[in-house]
Amino acid sequence: MMIIIVLVITAIISQTKADYQTSLTFNDLLPEDPKTYDKMRPPKKDGQATTVFFHVTVMGLDSIDETSMTYAADIFFAQTWKDHRLRLPENMTSEYRLLEVEWLKNMWRPDSFFKNAKSVTFQTMTIPNHYMWLYKDKTILYMVKLTLRLSCAMNFVIYPHDTQECKLQMESLSHTTEDMKFDWDPEVPLVVDENIELPQLALIKNYTADCTQVYSTGNFTCLEVVFVLKRRLGYYLFHTYIPTCLIVIMSWVSFWIKPEAAPARVTLGVTSLLTLSTQHAKSQASLPPVSYLKAVDAFMSVCTVFVFMALMEYCLVNIVLGDSSLPKPIPKPPPPENKFDKFFELATGKTAKNSIPSAKVGLIIEQKSFSSRRETRCSQQEDPTDSPHPFLNPRRSCQIDALSLPPAPPAPARGATKLTPAQVRLRRAIHVDKFSRVAFPLTFTLLNCTYWYMFYEYI
Ligand SMILES: *[C@@H]1O[C@H](CO)[C@@H](O)[C@H](O)[C@H]1NC(C)=O
Ligand SMILES: *[C@@H]1O[C@H](CO)[C@@H](O)[C@H](O)[C@H]1NC(C)=O
Ligand SMILES: *[C@@H]1O[C@H](CO)[C@@H](O)[C@H](O)[C@H]1NC(C)=O
Repeated sequence: MMIIIVLVITAIISQTKADYQTSLTFNDLLPEDPKTYDKMRPPKKDGQATTVFFHVTVMGLDSIDETSMTYAADIFFAQTWKDHRLRLPENMTSEYRLLEVEWLKNMWRPDSFFKNAKSVTFQTMTIPNHYMWLYKDKTILYMVKLTLRLSCAMNFVIYPHDTQECKLQMESLSHTTEDMKFDWDPEVPLVVDENIELPQLALIKNYTADCTQVYSTGNFTCLEVVFVLKRRLGYYLFHTYIPTCLIVIMSWVSFWIKPEAAPARVTLGVTSLLTLSTQHAKSQASLPPVSYLKAVDAFMSVCTVFVFMALMEYCLVNIVLGDSSLPKPIPKPPPPENKFDKFFELATGKTAKNSIPSAKVGLIIEQKSFSSRRETRCSQQEDPTDSPHPFLNPRRSCQIDALSLPPAPPAPARGATKLTPAQVRLRRAIHVDKFSRVAFPLTFTLLNCTYWYMFYEYI
């Protein structure tokens, strides 16, 4: 019984001891004479500039926008400084004590601001996202969670092989380096979440740096976090480079199509050109319209030139081929009537002069219809045995036929040894095509190798 009572009493005593930390008012922290505390003056112990230690935890990076050259970051931002002028709450047993954040308004605090921020969002749900601690050694920690929209100057000269450096800068607004200095926390200056995942870029490096700035009014302390972001090539490889190369290769199909097929070859060239220009526009849809030439522009331009040259090659083939209306009559049998008439006149005219006018001979021959075969004509003419004139006897006219007609058929036979001009031109055109079949792929491969060799180190 007694033991229980003793235990209860000791428990009550220990309880009262733990609860001894009474509620604190701001005046409990101020020196005995509050007038000696100037909240506008940094706590310069022994005339030394106050050092404020920074710690940044980056929880997220996202919304990297090339058009506006901005990105968003979610951070925990901690500032620690020592104010020797403060009084510690009496009987402070714990390592640190939570203070009301409102008191910051009445005490000295670092005046850091985000130099390259376009907007800063301070979250208030469910309670305002900040707190203040007072350590036993009069050190004050102020921690705040912020969402920042930061500007990041980007250069797209070697886009899409580029690497961008995006910064988060914190500078002092009103204190020069004589009064206050920022420094990184000696133990853990920066923590970047390992799981940060960006759609197009990869976070390859993060480091801290000093960005103290010299102004006309003095030197202002500044610290920065640098994120090195490397563009991932995968997206561009599958959406720009490979499709573009395929379009260029597609335009070469034209060299294997026979030169006479103008619609097929022209359509192929024009379609390739249009598709390529769409590809080019798509490849930089997310970029601001910069005035300089980008790597992807160079690649696309070369591809466009290739497709254009393939189209021009057909133009050359057409020129070599000559007027398309010219070669047609040659393969066809030449208008036989005129030629035959001439020949007939030549062969018979002199002899016929004496007896029958040559016009009449022509009439007779025309009546015998040249459209029908020569043999039938001969036989037909053989049938009417009685002829008005010995010179016009059917055998003769048939002989003349046999004499006059052969020159027309030999045209194809002659081709075996000697080509017609049209065939020569066609052969030349095919030579141009054959040359292009080798020259285009070779040059394109060469230029592609040069391109990838140039940007190899950036991949
Ligand atoms: C702690 O509180 C007790 C009781 O009020 C007091 O006697 C003692 O002086 C205090 N100690 C310090 C270090 O202030
Ligand atoms: C940030 O940098 C540190 C030190 O260089 C490194 O250990 C860490 O992995 C980096 N974090 C990311 C997300 O790259
Ligand atoms: C400011 O910095 C420059 C160089 O960093 C230094 O030469 C100069 O003395 C500094 N001025 C002040 C007032 O500290």
